[in-house]
Amino acid sequence: MDKITFIDHPLVQHKISLLRDKNTGTNEFRILIEEISTLMGYEALRDLPVENVEVETPLERCETPMISGKKLAVVPILRAGLGMVNGILALVPTAKVGHIGLYRDEETHEPHEYFCKLPSPIDQRTIVVTDPMLATGGSAVAAINFIKQRGGKNIKFMCVIAAPEGLKRLSEAHPDIQIYVGHLDRQLNENAYICPGLGDAGDRIFGTK
Ligand code: PRP
Ligand code: URA
Repeated sequence: MDKITFIDHPLVQHKISLLRDKNTGTNEFRILIEEISTLMGYEALRDLPVENVEVETPLERCETPMISGKKLAVVPILRAGLGMVNGILALVPTAKVGHIGLYRDEETHEPHEYFCKLPSPIDQRTIVVTDPMLATGGSAVAAINFIKQRGGKNIKFMCVIAAPEGLKRLSEAHPDIQIYVGHLDRQLNENAYICPGLGDAGDRIFGTK
């Protein structure tokens, strides 16, 4: 379980409660998802490699650590993962961004790929995969399979809400990745929606349905 980090910070929990509220509109929902992603990103990026650079202060030259933007890639799972990207770019503006397009079949709940474009080369980077919802885990497992097939190694997965079923499936399929969870919810319902959850994250971010 040490590969799974629950972000129990009160600010994150407060904002997740606002997200859950069915009366929270699209604009506020987007802002909250971004804010939560920044707060979670602060924790998830605490082991980002740093390099010493030379800087001249008003007093003298010194060697001082800086993050190399080239070392980070953010990879949202479309669509809903897109809502988390700017929150992480607020921390590391020079990070590269890849995209994986997956949708869940409404009947079988199995993921189907429609797009995959990753920064190249991907093998040297820390990769943060974003998706607000980890439900059955099918989409996250498939997305990380694609990234590994293309050479990705150091992978983190960040979700706002997870179901126990999805968390188990993802950590068993990819025991090497680090998983960051905003809140672990009770269970999936018969339509594989997370309960209590927040509904359909993509629809709430993009105002569709
Ligand atoms: C949602 C969500 C995840 C996936 C989670 O996306 O954003 O990607 O379902 O479910 P799973 O863990 O059971 O795979 P959806 O397929 O609805 O697509 P969308 O983001 O385009 O709405
Ligand atoms: N996808 C969502 O957007 N919400 C859920 O509860 C499950 C999958």
